[in-house]
Amino acid sequence: MAVISNKWVGVLSFFLLLLLAIPTDAAPQRRKNGNGNGATTKGNGATTKGGATSKGGATGATAGGATAGAAATKITQATDGSTILDKTVNVNGLSLRYKISAPADQFTAESGVTGGTATAGANGTAGLNVLLHGDGGQSFFDFPNQAVQDNLMGVAILAPDPNLFWGGGSGLDRTDGVAHSAAVNELIQTQLPQDVAFDMTNVFFMGVSGGSLMLSGFFMPAFGAQYQTGVELNCGALAPQVAVVDAATMIASNRIHFQSTKDELALLQDAIPASIAAYEQLATDAGLDATTVGTLQTVDNTPNGGGHCGFDEQGFVTGVQLMADNFANVMGAQASGEVTGIGNVLTVIRCRERAGCIYECRTSPKNDLNGYRNNTPC
Ligand SMILES: *[C@@H]1O[C@H](CO)[C@@H](O)[C@H](O)[C@H]1NC(C)=O
Repeated sequence: MAVISNKWVGVLSFFLLLLLAIPTDAAPQRRKNGNGNGATTKGNGATTKGGATSKGGATGATAGGATAGAAATKITQATDGSTILDKTVNVNGLSLRYKISAPADQFTAESGVTGGTATAGANGTAGLNVLLHGDGGQSFFDFPNQAVQDNLMGVAILAPDPNLFWGGGSGLDRTDGVAHSAAVNELIQTQLPQDVAFDMTNVFFMGVSGGSLMLSGFFMPAFGAQYQTGVELNCGALAPQVAVVDAATMIASNRIHFQSTKDELALLQDAIPASIAAYEQLATDAGLDATTVGTLQTVDNTPNGGGHCGFDEQGFVTGVQLMADNFANVMGAQASGEVTGIGNVLTVIRCRERAGCIYECRTSPKNDLNGYRNNTPC
């Protein structure tokens, strides 16, 4: 059939638009039994990108501190010509699937990557940008940070959770945040060096939605003092939910950027300013002056119209890709702050507290309210 009538083209386009309009990785979701939102979005992510092997039990040969998984190791090519290793291991009793994107010769001989010549555990010249996806796993499957950028190779890890929520639980209540954070740290410290040569002193983090909740709520408090690099918290943030280990070091040695949108989810419009205020307070408690805090901690929520994580004012997937493509511009040592379509995102945070409630988080130099609502009625 060579000709499709205009009427059918119209109908098809309508359904195509409907499909595109369905959010694929909407975030902080309430866990529901059966076919809740979380389960639906997880299904999309897992089926569209062939995630069938992601959650199997892991058994097999040991590799470093972790156990190699039953899921088949896959090797594919990245958008920039790098090699992607996709693997599942058991870490602390949790099945962790992860991807590493690196130049072929940076992989270890044991990794199975053709041309991998590095020695397991050897220091490499490049660092890592470790991405934790949002609820449902979309950004793990998309792997928006797969291109080597600013001397950082891409890593993405899939949450060891039935609904693919980082930190487990649901909404802002991430009940497995401690265990998941410990597993991520263990993977980086003991498993990744078996796969690829990288510089352990140059490991950065990028969160998307639920991944940002875990990074800010649990991972940075527990392990930030160890990494001393930076974290980009996209469309999500929590105040620390656990004691901050070596708080003075953690806060003084990490760059933190909070990136959101004006039309962020209501739940996050409260949680993000609370997180900003908490991290600023840690810096103040550590005796850092305002200028130093302004260099370390930045915030932007200029984008409007793209919804949750829609940093390009279009949608989730392209919005997250935009922030991944501009990671060096935001987090790099020489970051310009310029993100195409947004402008300069490196605005400085100033939160004010009155009688225990945070009533505004301003940014300067723009010095506008930047869309954040009062997080506590004063
Ligand atoms: C690894 O090598 C880089 C230079 O390539 C160096 O800057 C870094 O300090 C080294 N890291 C470790 C852990 O020795």
